[in-house]
Amino acid sequence: MRKGLLLIAASVALAGSLTACGDSSDDGDGNSGSGSDAKPKIGVILPDSKSSARWETADRKYLSEAFKKAGVEFDIQNAQNDKQEFQTIADQMITSGVNVLVIVNLDSGTGKAVLDKAKAQGVATIDYDRLTLGGSAQYYVSFDNVAVGKLQGEGLSKCLSDMKAKKPIVATLNGSPTDNNATLFARGYNSVLDPQYESGAYVKGPNQSVPDWDNAQAATIFEQMYTSEPKIGGVLAANDGLGNAAIAVLRKQNRNGKVPVTGQDATVQGLQNILAGDQCMTVYKAVKKEADATAALAVALAKGKKGTTNATVEDPEGKRKVPSVLETPVAIYKDNVKDVVDDGYVTVEELCKGKYAAPCAQAGIK
Ligand code: BGC
Repeated sequence: MRKGLLLIAASVALAGSLTACGDSSDDGDGNSGSGSDAKPKIGVILPDSKSSARWETADRKYLSEAFKKAGVEFDIQNAQNDKQEFQTIADQMITSGVNVLVIVNLDSGTGKAVLDKAKAQGVATIDYDRLTLGGSAQYYVSFDNVAVGKLQGEGLSKCLSDMKAKKPIVATLNGSPTDNNATLFARGYNSVLDPQYESGAYVKGPNQSVPDWDNAQAATIFEQMYTSEPKIGGVLAANDGLGNAAIAVLRKQNRNGKVPVTGQDATVQGLQNILAGDQCMTVYKAVKKEADATAALAVALAKGKKGTTNATVEDPEGKRKVPSVLETPVAIYKDNVKDVVDDGYVTVEELCKGKYAAPCAQAGIK
């Protein structure tokens, strides 16, 4: 008799919790926010289209696909490296009624202003790829950026040892000083390179940051580095665009292919430089995963629900723990360029055009 009663009590409790889960007017997570019946409308502001090909060729594409698949309204715009324009786009998006704003900041100061304004208007926010220091975004979605830098440092070391380089002078082109990611990448590659400098295996050469990741400025900077130190034997370049700038200078000196250069983003140009033997490696970041995770979080936020995260990132400036999704980067050398194609990130047509047909075939890409 007692046992029977307990059973009934248990099944009532179970039925109760099931109803709570299925009831759309109450999310049961105590997180009201924009409300569960808000129709998701998501605004995304991309930073520029020149610091890396990825923003327009990968991020815009994968984010659009993810939002379409989720059946939500969205608006993706690009600030073209203009901070004023960035604010204007944000204002317009807020006025147009987005309930979630996703940003890739141009620097933490202007990013924070946009995030705080959105928050004040009841708009949820997500930091996409770059953490806004001192900011107020509910979520951060990116890659493990220290791991990205480690792969670059290890990649350069591998290529230098493959070439049997003796006490190579290593030059470094860091990313933009205003991008927290550039700090994290540097933390990663310096953790690999510093011990080599300390042991005397490598010689620390010129080391500079490239404002706004500007590829044209990177060429000027590297030209000066090369003039001051013509015996540069390896280049840690923080992304494919900066790497290509260094490679262009090395080509003029007939030193391309003799000086390993790193990169990041698995851009068509970076992969072609690898196939040609002018670039040692790149870091592939499967942007589709980053975009899918962002779309899932944005839809959850729009519905006033909590999303799924896999990490917590500490904002060193705001001293705040930010719930995050961090994806895993992959190192790409000549022998696994094929993996990037197989993943659908670049097509054979764009990669293997003209003079790249032969090296593509050699690398098993068809
Ligand atoms: C991104 C890189 C990109 C760089 C320049 C960084 O914040 O993580 O993928 O190459 O910005 O746009």
